[in-house]
Amino acid sequence: MTTFPIEKIRADFPILQEKIRNKPLVYLDNAASCQKPQQVIDSIVHCYTHEYANIHRGVHTLSVKATDRYEGAREKVKDFINAQSTKEIIFVRGATEAINLVAQTYGKANIKAGDEILITAMEHHSNIVPWQMLCEETGAVLKVAPINLQGELIFAEFEALISDKTKLIAVVQMSNALGTVNPVDKMIACAKAKNIPVLLDGAQAIPHMSVDVQALDCDFYVFSGHKLYAPAGIGVLYGKQALLEAMPPYQGGGDMIRKVTFEETEYNTLPYKFEAGTPSIADVIGLGAAIDYLNEIGMDNVAAYEAELLDYATEKARKIKGLRIIGEAAEKGAILSFVLDNIHPHDIGTMLDSLGIAVRAGHHCAMPVMDFFEVPATARASFAMYNTKEEVDVLMQGIKSLIEMFG
Ligand code: ALA
Repeated sequence: MTTFPIEKIRADFPILQEKIRNKPLVYLDNAASCQKPQQVIDSIVHCYTHEYANIHRGVHTLSVKATDRYEGAREKVKDFINAQSTKEIIFVRGATEAINLVAQTYGKANIKAGDEILITAMEHHSNIVPWQMLCEETGAVLKVAPINLQGELIFAEFEALISDKTKLIAVVQMSNALGTVNPVDKMIACAKAKNIPVLLDGAQAIPHMSVDVQALDCDFYVFSGHKLYAPAGIGVLYGKQALLEAMPPYQGGGDMIRKVTFEETEYNTLPYKFEAGTPSIADVIGLGAAIDYLNEIGMDNVAAYEAELLDYATEKARKIKGLRIIGEAAEKGAILSFVLDNIHPHDIGTMLDSLGIAVRAGHHCAMPVMDFFEVPATARASFAMYNTKEEVDVLMQGIKSLIEMFG
């Protein structure tokens, strides 16, 4: 912990200097979206100031420069998640779009009436609804592996739900509502034994740990830039090349074609086949800058720092009478979801805001998780690598004063 360059990191994020209601900002809503370092902001400003033009289309200098930067970012993403090839890296708007893309292309081509898609009870809506839509269209059936009261997957039940009918397993690597980190290695091994493809929703996991898609041996991996210190509106679909090659395109338009006549269209090669239209060029470049930034710190260092922060916060939270932590999995990322006796989570959120503390209050796009724990919502403090123990203390003090106030 002592070697983690926390002061330098904090100084890189200009928004952390803001005052909210005259108090220093304590930003603990990182699972919803995290803040951006100056290096990412500068990369976007630099793009629009010096190197912006449309990509893949021009012979002129600016277009070549923008294309180089854009494709350079693809290379960085490839290395960051250890994909085999840049052909396996598709830029999309975010994890949500990536899952919809897989459902509408791979899903429609490979899943039929009576087939089963297996998810878990801790999925974000973005890893539930696209599969429900596909099931409605195809007559396939959605199966849900249950969780226990700690918020952990019940592995034996997950395993028991895998059958000859299972055609795809789509699971979250780390839950945004509970913080649970799933045993995805074991889950993928079970799936592989039956030759079932696995999609991992890594939107919440990837800011907190290093990810190696080849070691994981997942077939698809999706994440969003905005939770990874990069701009909003950009995200990544990783897919194994052979699977992506065999999938029909998602959207039609410019850039995803090789030849168009009124009679027929020949599609472009990977990854462009799935990138119709002008993409979010500067945001992709910003994602590349975020990855450079994280590589400098090292994801293993981020993971170790945040684990210590979560332990500290959990220990303090457990001592507060009337506070119930929602999600106490043995394997957890830096998320503390909680409820307080007799105080609605929205009141917790509003009251903490008056102290300059930003937490999210709500169902966190995971309504089935709220139903399981029989709460309407939770308050959620979600930590990033720029948060500190002092900020945890401010949060805990805020919670205590709230409890006193509400009597
Ligand atoms: N999925 C985001 C969250 O967890 C928005 O808050």
